[in-house]
Amino acid sequence: MTLRGKVVVNRCMSLDGFIAGPGHAMDWGNGRALADFVAPDDIAEIAAATGAMLVGRRTWEVGDRMEAEEPGSVDYPFSGPMFLLSHRPLEPPDPAVTILTGDIGDAVATALDAAGDKNLEILGADVAGQCLQRGLVDEILVYVLPVLLGDGIPFSSPGLTRTDLEPISSTRSGDATILRFRVRKESGPTVD
Ligand SMILES: NC(=O)c1ccc[n+]([C@@H]2O[C@H](COP(=O)([O-])OP(=O)(O)OC[C@H]3O[C@@H](n4cnc5c(N)ncnc54)[C@H](OP(=O)(O)O)[C@@H]3O)[C@@H](O)[C@H]2O)c1
Repeated sequence: MTLRGKVVVNRCMSLDGFIAGPGHAMDWGNGRALADFVAPDDIAEIAAATGAMLVGRRTWEVGDRMEAEEPGSVDYPFSGPMFLLSHRPLEPPDPAVTILTGDIGDAVATALDAAGDKNLEILGADVAGQCLQRGLVDEILVYVLPVLLGDGIPFSSPGLTRTDLEPISSTRSGDATILRFRVRKESGPTVD
């Protein structure tokens, strides 16, 4: 039997449930990046368990903007296969990135295959919402950061149906709290 990794929605989030501030600002306080809040060993362990990433185009563009404004601010110790969900090519093209488009189930299957026996990380609110809606997500990992943003991009996209979760763990890591949940497939959303 071929072992497959898990599909993991991976997010950092303010205590009041925002994954970015107004205008997609990723300002968690005093210019600190996610890596400044979480214990380096925990980031390294999560990255080492990741075999591929599936990223939404808006997340990609926010990451590009952050990198341009502050080089190194989105660094992550991961160098495996990278898949970008988009209807548009990258300008300039990046041979290290595979652009996928169309059915989210096909995109997840392709990226999960590339991840081998490691996990597939899903990045992007809209993309994660599509995956949850189709019952494709195994786990949700949230870095809860010590800030109330008051406004911004909420964890759930509008229209997401109820999804029941099973707690796996809750760990203090540096100034963050890492929460892990398993998605209960039997009571989760149905596949279209
Ligand atoms: N806190 C965190 O850990 C975290 C993590 C990730 C993202 N974020 C934040 O979340 C926000 C981005 O999320 P988002 O929901 O706005 O967007 P997103 O999920 O990153 O990207 C959505 C875009 O991806 C493309 N796309 C999605 N599904 C597709 C499909 N099936 N086929 C082809 N293309 C598809 C479309 O772009 P095109 O049609 O334009 O190509 C769509 O507009 C940003 O503010 C980002 O900073 C936060």
